[in-house]
Amino acid sequence: MRARTDNAPEMRGNRLHDVSSAESVAPGASEDAREVGEVLVAADRLQHRVRELGEAISRDYAGRPLLLVGVLKGAVFFLSDLMRHIDIPVEVDFMAVASYGSATDSSGVVRILKDLDVAIEGRDVLIVEDIVDSGLTLQYLLRNLGSRNPASLEVCALLTKPDRRKVDLPTRYIGFEIPDRFVIGYGLDYAERHRNLPFVAVLER
Ligand code: IMP
Ligand code: MG
Repeated sequence: MRARTDNAPEMRGNRLHDVSSAESVAPGASEDAREVGEVLVAADRLQHRVRELGEAISRDYAGRPLLLVGVLKGAVFFLSDLMRHIDIPVEVDFMAVASYGSATDSSGVVRILKDLDVAIEGRDVLIVEDIVDSGLTLQYLLRNLGSRNPASLEVCALLTKPDRRKVDLPTRYIGFEIPDRFVIGYGLDYAERHRNLPFVAVLER
């Protein structure tokens, strides 16, 4: 069969970029961009580390079907990339929790907004989190899920801020240690925005 040379859809996509101008930018976009500060973890470093974590998890859990528990919403982006580097049988489920506190500080008082769809008794469970800050959210999740008698329960967090930790937690897999700055991107939000950035940057205020 002859190779397809008609690439009209791609060309249409390019033209769309060519016509971008001040009028075509959504209202609020420039204020949004001003909030993006210093890049702490560039996109290629993120992708490289996520691959390493996926490979380590595949080795460590070989022969043990794994359940990843993603914590909504921040972990979704990390989790979906991570899963694609796991080459053993793996399932995924999600929890949503709300932690009372200000926009940038959690209080440790955690409420379950959405619980798991599946029972985890006797299963190997790996909690996937975007970031461990004070550790209070994770402490609650470890206690709550631990009481359901899984075969094992571990944590994989993309980021950790050791200087902010209030409680000591067993975190088996960590992507990057970062300084005590409020960060956005790759799932992390400020007032629900910036999750779509492909890198992790400091919030500029
Ligand atoms: P912790 O309970 O204090 O450990 O807070 C955990 C949660 O707070 C994370 O899952 C994030 O949703 C949020 N969080 C903590 N630090 C940051 C940050 O720097 N940027 C965005 N969200 C953060
Ligand atoms: Mg979160």
